[in-house]
This record gives sequence, C-alpha cells and structure tokens, in this order.
Amino acid sequence: MSFDATSFREQFPILNTEIYGKSLAYLDNAASVQKPQIVIDRINEVLTGGYANVHRGLHYLSNKATADYEKARDSVAKYLNAADRDEIVFTAGGTDAMNLVAQSLGVSQIGEGDEIILSVMEHHSNIVPWHLLRERKGAVIKWVDVDDDGHIDLDAYRALFTDRTKIVSITGLSNVLGVVPPIREMAAIAHERGVLFLTDGCQHAVHGPVDVQALGVDFYVLTGHKIYGPNGIGALYGRKDVLATMPPFKGGGEMIDTVSMDEVTYNDPPHRFEAGTPPITEAIALGAALDWMMEQDMDGLRAHERALTDHAMEALTGLNWINLYGRAKDKGPVIAFNLNGAHPHDVSTVLDRQGVAIRAGHHCCQPLMRRLGVTATGRASFAAYNTHEDIDQFVKALHKAQELFA
Ligand SMILES: Cc1ncc(COP(=O)(O)O)c(C=O)c1O
Repeated sequence: MSFDATSFREQFPILNTEIYGKSLAYLDNAASVQKPQIVIDRINEVLTGGYANVHRGLHYLSNKATADYEKARDSVAKYLNAADRDEIVFTAGGTDAMNLVAQSLGVSQIGEGDEIILSVMEHHSNIVPWHLLRERKGAVIKWVDVDDDGHIDLDAYRALFTDRTKIVSITGLSNVLGVVPPIREMAAIAHERGVLFLTDGCQHAVHGPVDVQALGVDFYVLTGHKIYGPNGIGALYGRKDVLATMPPFKGGGEMIDTVSMDEVTYNDPPHRFEAGTPPITEAIALGAALDWMMEQDMDGLRAHERALTDHAMEALTGLNWINLYGRAKDKGPVIAFNLNGAHPHDVSTVLDRQGVAIRAGHHCCQPLMRRLGVTATGRASFAAYNTHEDIDQFVKALHKAQELFA
C-alpha cells in the first residue's frame, strides 16, 4: 500500500470549489478539515435508513442505531489502541472532553491548593477548564515555558512538580507552532510522581493512528471535525482504572443506574459520562472517518504532509519581510507567520481574494501570543489532501500581499 495524494484528494468534493474565479487552496485545516465522500455518505445513510435514539429502544431502528453507535466506539478504541472499548467516552468535541476531565476531577480529586501543570502554548480549551477550577476550587495552575520553537525544557518541567501536583495537561501538537512535545517522556515523569497526565490530541490525532498505551497517558482527547469526521463529536480516552474513580460530569438520562426521589446511583464508564441523547449520527460518522483513516498508508500520508510543510518553509525562509514562528524539527503541518507592517487579518483578506483560505488571529492561544510578543499571527495549516500547487498559490499570494503592504 502506498499513499496516493491525488486519489486521496479526489475524495473531497468541496475541494473542487472555485472562489473569486480561482481554485480554492484550503489551508485552514488546523481549524477544521473538510470531509471525504465516505463520511458524507455515512451521514446520509444513517439519516435516511438507520436513525433512531440509542440504547433505550426495543425496536429495529433503535437496535440498529445502537449497534452502529457502539461500533463507532470500537473504531475509536482501535484508532487509539485503547486496551478496552469502555475506555472511550463520546463527547461533544475536544472542548467538552477537557471540561469533562477538569470538572469531574474538580469534584473528586482537585481542591484548594492542588496544582495543575500546563504549557504556555495550550489552546484555550486546555486552559480555561483549569482556570474554572482555579476560580471555583482554589486550585493553582503552574506553567511550563517553551522556547521560540515550542520546545519544552524538561528540567524546568520536572522542577514544577510538588506533592500537591494532581494533573499535567499538554497538547499533543501545537496548533500554532506545530511542535510535537515529548509526550511519552513527559507522561513518564508525571507517573513517577503519581500524577495524572492528559494529552490534548485535537491537532495530533489526525496524523495518527495513535497508541495511547505506548504514549502512557491517562487521558487523550480527540475531536471529530479535525480528523475528517463531523463537528459536534469528540472522544475522550480515559484509562479504565482512572475513569472508574471519576464522578459524572453532566446529569441526565443514560448515565444513571437507579434514580429515586432521594438518591441516584450511576452507570459504569463510559455511559456514566454520556448523559442524554448523544450525537448519534456524528459518532457513527466519526467511526466511518477513523475506519477510512486506518485504511490509508499513514506513513505515506505523513510523508506527504511533511513534504508540503518543507516546501512552504523553504519558500518562506530567508525572506526579510516575513517572520515565521516555530521551526521545530519534525513539526506538524502548521506554519504561523506575520508580514512586516501588516496586520494578519488584512493579510488573510488579501489571500482570500487569491483563493487561499488561512486563519488569522490569536488561535485561542493568548498566553502563547504573549510569549511570542505578538497579539496575532497568520496561520496556514495543511492536510493530506493539499497539493504542492496549493503551497505555490499560498506563497504567490503572500508575495502579492507583501507588495500591497510594503
Ligand atoms: C489544540 C486544540 N485543542 C482543543 C481544541 C478544541 O476542540 P473543539 O473544537 O473540538 O472543541 C482545538 C480547536 O481548535 C485545538 O486546536
């Protein structure tokens, strides 16, 4: 099996779109990726022939939807190499998963004076849930710094632990700098001290498959819309023995064992954490996306993404009118940049008129922006369906922007 970039791309109908009379170079993949036909078809199939509410029905369609929903859990477990399918909790997305962990541990294990370690390059989804514990429970957030490329100094990281440290929560791939932190090593350091470790895999999982057992993490978060699946769905991997100790995050149907007027007892994980009607169609379509991903030549897919990143970095390095942020070796396909004297929003608008979709802003990473000494950057991020022509179109459009703003 080898990775065929052309036939991979052909599976994404939206990529044939023309905007302003130009072919679309969609380079906003770190925000959300486009969907392959197989996922679009699966959503259609569920809604036209296999939809009903799950778990509680006794009729044909409910049984079918339940089986498909639970099969999607198997797909996530396989993609992440979880030891047990019950370690996979469906959530409404990455943000929801991180809030689940923070809020549940905030009830059971993290109280006043307890410490949480984050890096300064985390997405707000992996910062604000912990700030809520700081505000509401008196927990303390400790920050590990990064260098200009996003590298974490492991000695500085080790020095942050005290006997009050309860959890470390670190991105698997920075959505700005593209850097991949040494998760396995960092998780081992946490575990030597009896501390839980969460990886925010929202940007990382799409370059998978992921092996949560080899990484040695207690929690791993993925989000559907960044991994060729729908939005409104994500998954939390939680080690079985850890999930078993955690109280529910939300209350409602399905997460209970018994309810009386005086008390309630709870279902076992993962159902304990899936209150109410879940995103049924979205979960099934996420399963289809992951099954499809597992059929790809992932080494070839990653090599293609790397070649695109190298191509863009080479084309932009050495130009005296552009600042590039993040040059880590083996970084993921994310390039953050600023043009001298131009606001990234203006640059993004010029690029848009050239058919190039990028993102501009703080990328939900205000602490990192402060660390880099900027308020915002442009960001081009590549997926495996992008082509070298997309990169050329992007670089040409940047030159045009530079002429306009110089
Ligand atoms: C690193 C990272 N974590 C978390 C999230 C949030 O995920 P979701 O959009 O599924 O809530 C994002 C989305 O941009 C992200 O880039």
